[in-house]
Amino acid sequence: MSKTKIKFLISAGPTRERIDPVRFISNRSSGKMGYALAEAAIAADCEVVLVAGPVALQPPTGLENLVEVESAAEMAREIRGEAPSADIIVMAAAVADYRPVSVSSEKLKKNGEDLILRLEPTEDILAALGADREGDSPMLVGFAAETDNILENAKGKLLRKNLDWIIANDVSKPDSGFQSDSNAAVMMSKTGAKLRFPLMDKKKLACEIVDALIRQYSGFKSETTL
Ligand code: CTP
Repeated sequence: MSKTKIKFLISAGPTRERIDPVRFISNRSSGKMGYALAEAAIAADCEVVLVAGPVALQPPTGLENLVEVESAAEMAREIRGEAPSADIIVMAAAVADYRPVSVSSEKLKKNGEDLILRLEPTEDILAALGADREGDSPMLVGFAAETDNILENAKGKLLRKNLDWIIANDVSKPDSGFQSDSNAAVMMSKTGAKLRFPLMDKKKLACEIVDALIRQYSGFKSETTL
């Protein structure tokens, strides 16, 4: 009998929050880490659904599904829809934390005055998944993009969002994090395990992370279904 494949649900890239028909708020995420993770999971013979914000990358071949989204709200809807059938969810996307309260249907005109944009929080997709967890819910993995107190802040997110793993990375350095082709990371589990990955190509780092997650998955399954 053939073994069913492990199903990864991976998010990648930034989100865009519209201000008017020609402007938006976004961030510097390139999507490279999330795309590299998707590629690594396909290479490891897993089924992969990739939910991606706007990026300038070629999707890896062999995806089960590529869902392209723009805003945090769209990403939340797609992730929620795909989550129940996933085994491992990795939120590598840099989801916008705020969006404009109102979106102008016409291009905003300048009038020489200050322009005040009122922003409201977006849904925290990962925290919502963590809050809704039941016995056999998928393994939840987050990224922590930090510029200071990296491990401490990442651990806070791991606990607050009820995750199994968090991958902490320093986004203040030019050779790691946003846009770079390389990254260094520390993976921490809720049980206290710590894996340190030195600076390396994002594709290599993605393989290391995917290998670690697959290794943990069978143990995780037997723990959560007890
Ligand atoms: N995340 C999410 N939904 C959001 C914001 C973040 O699912 N609205 C996820 C990211 O995909 C990532 C993790 O939460 O896996 C941590 O994201 P990060 O930007 O590091 O932290 P925030 O929770 O946004 O907190 P802060 O910006 O205050 O550091």
